[in-house]
Amino acid sequence: MLRGRGDECRRLERLLDSARGGTSAMLVIRGEAGVGKTALLDYVAERASGCSVVRASGVESEMGYPFAALLQLLRAPILRNLEQLAPPQRDALRRAFGLMEGPPPQTYLVGLATLTMLSRLAGERPLVCLVDDVQWLDRESLAVLSFVVRRLAAEPIVVFFGVREPNEPELSGLPDLVLTGLAEADARLLLDEAVPGGVDEQVRDRIVAETRGNPLALLELPRGMTPAEFAGGFGLPPRTSSPGGSSRPSHVGCRPFLKKRSATCSSSRRTPSAM
Ligand SMILES: Nc1ncnc2c1ncn2[C@@H]1O[C@H](COP(=O)(O)OP(=O)(O)OP(=O)(O)O)[C@@H](O)[C@H]1O
Ligand SMILES: [Mg+2]
Repeated sequence: MLRGRGDECRRLERLLDSARGGTSAMLVIRGEAGVGKTALLDYVAERASGCSVVRASGVESEMGYPFAALLQLLRAPILRNLEQLAPPQRDALRRAFGLMEGPPPQTYLVGLATLTMLSRLAGERPLVCLVDDVQWLDRESLAVLSFVVRRLAAEPIVVFFGVREPNEPELSGLPDLVLTGLAEADARLLLDEAVPGGVDEQVRDRIVAETRGNPLALLELPRGMTPAEFAGGFGLPPRTSSPGGSSRPSHVGCRPFLKKRSATCSSSRRTPSAM
């Protein structure tokens, strides 16, 4: 169950409604590792009643494979309708997906073909496209999707992207939602859920402060702690006072944890791990 995120969920639902009403929409959900981007995309999928939902997710080990992510998005039943495309678009898509020999297709033609396919699908029911982990999309798929979302018009299509910071340049200028940590009260509730035996109030406040409400950190950090630590018996580092007088933790214990999770991201687009 999602904790907090009321405003964000309402915004997502408004976009779903706009697609149901025949107006295209898009949103880039941005934020650090573990902040809840995928959780919000899952929320959209759950709320997308009456819509078709297509999904793709960047895979770090597939970054070097042209159009790998696009294939995820356009897989059957869409590919069954290839014959309905104009021949240049159809052949471009076939070449993109290795269904036909020939030189690499032009992004422009693959983009047009994708637009046509998505529009056709949206002619049956409003269409929701969820594209997660954009930082790991292959370049070609990202270029095509960037082309497509900028050409959506009065169509029942809504596209949501999830991307770790920093944002991908190809998505710049699109409407975005920058996700930060949960509000303190929601973070406390999530932490209480994660620690069935309960947490000493002071310890809880420190964890909430150190995680800055990052849900993944709130769920994972307690795993390495002992019952004594939950009860307040672990050596909390002293708080330091800022010049303004307010105190804050002298270290941020969860940040190395999050850095580790996102380490592969920072260098990812230029140096994919598998080409
Ligand atoms: N609002 C929330 N309430 C409760 N749990 C949440 C919330 N947001 C995220 N979570 C949980 O926190 C964990 C991390 O969330 P999620 O996977 O969505 O992060 P992410 O931003 O997609 O991270 P990454 O960049 O690594 O893909 C998941 O277990 C998810 O279920
Ligand atoms: Mg995610």
